[in-house]
Amino acid sequence: MIVIGGSSSENLAGIVANQLGVKSGKVEMKRFPDGEKYLRVLDDVKDHHVIVIQSMYHTPDEFLFEYFLLVDSLKDLGAKRVTSFIPYFAYARQDERFNPGEALSFKTVSKLIETVGTDELFTIDMHQHRVLKSSEVFKIPSHNLSAMPLLADYVKKEGMLKNPLVIGPDVEAEQWAKQAAETLHTDYDVFEKKRFAADRVEVRPRKANAAGRDILIVDDIISTGGTIIEASKILFSQGVNRVEVACTHPILATDSLNRIREAGVANVIGTDTVPSPISYVSVAPLIAGEVKKLHS
Ligand code: R5P
Repeated sequence: MIVIGGSSSENLAGIVANQLGVKSGKVEMKRFPDGEKYLRVLDDVKDHHVIVIQSMYHTPDEFLFEYFLLVDSLKDLGAKRVTSFIPYFAYARQDERFNPGEALSFKTVSKLIETVGTDELFTIDMHQHRVLKSSEVFKIPSHNLSAMPLLADYVKKEGMLKNPLVIGPDVEAEQWAKQAAETLHTDYDVFEKKRFAADRVEVRPRKANAAGRDILIVDDIISTGGTIIEASKILFSQGVNRVEVACTHPILATDSLNRIREAGVANVIGTDTVPSPISYVSVAPLIAGEVKKLHS
C-alpha cells in the first residue's frame, strides 16, 4: 500500500503514512509557462493499493484538477485500487439548482471523480443539507466520516469547559452537536428560529436553558464566521458563562477569526482538513483508522 498526498494535503498524507507504517509516495508537480499543470508519479504503483489524500481548499479548482490528473495517472500506471480521502470536499453546497440555469456543481464534480477511476471515496463532514447521504450522488462506495469525536476529545483533554452544553448553530448541526456531546458525556441542543409575529423572530436553543453554562458551539465549516458570531451573541445575551467553538473545516475567510474573538469567543479549534492557524486537531488518526479497517 502507498499513501500519496496531493499538494493540498502533503503534510496530512505524511502523517497518515507514518501512522500506518507504509510508504509515502512522491509526486512531482510544476507548471508549464502557459499555466498548465504537469504531474508525474515518482513511485512504482503497479499492483498497489494507493490511498490518495487531497483536500479541496484553498484553491478548489486547482486541487480538483490535480486530483483528476493524479488518479487517472495512477490507474493508467497499473494501480490495483485507488481509495481517496477528500477531507474538505468543495462544491457540495451547490447540490441543487437554486436559480434557473445554475450548474449542479456537486453532480458534475462527483461524476468526474468517478470517471477518473476512484474506486472508493471518503469525505469528512461533507456539507450535506439537502443530499443526506453521499450514496445519493456517488455510484462508487462513498462514506462521510466525522471529525467531531476528535474535536470533542481535544476539548475534553484540554479541560477547556466545565459541564459544557454543546450547541449546534442550526438544525443541520444537530448531527455534530450530538456526536460532540456523546464524547463529552453531556447534553446538547440546536438553535431554532421561533416566529412570534410577522416581524418578530427569535433565535434560541430549542429546549436547553443555556444561562450560566459553559458552551461549546460546533459546526462543520467556519467561512465568514457570521454563523458563529450570531450564535455567540445570542448565547451571551442569555447569560452563558463562556463560549468555545470547534469546527471541522476552518476556512476562516477574510478576518473571520478576529471577528469571532471580538465577539467574546474564548478559543476556536479546527482540524487540518484545511490547514489554518487553529488546526490543532489532526484528522490523520481518523483516516488511518479507516484504511486499517479496509485491510483487516
Ligand atoms: C451552513 O449550513 C454550514 O453548516 C455553516 O454553518 C456555514 O457554512 C458557516 O458559514 P459562515 O461562517 O460563513 O457563517
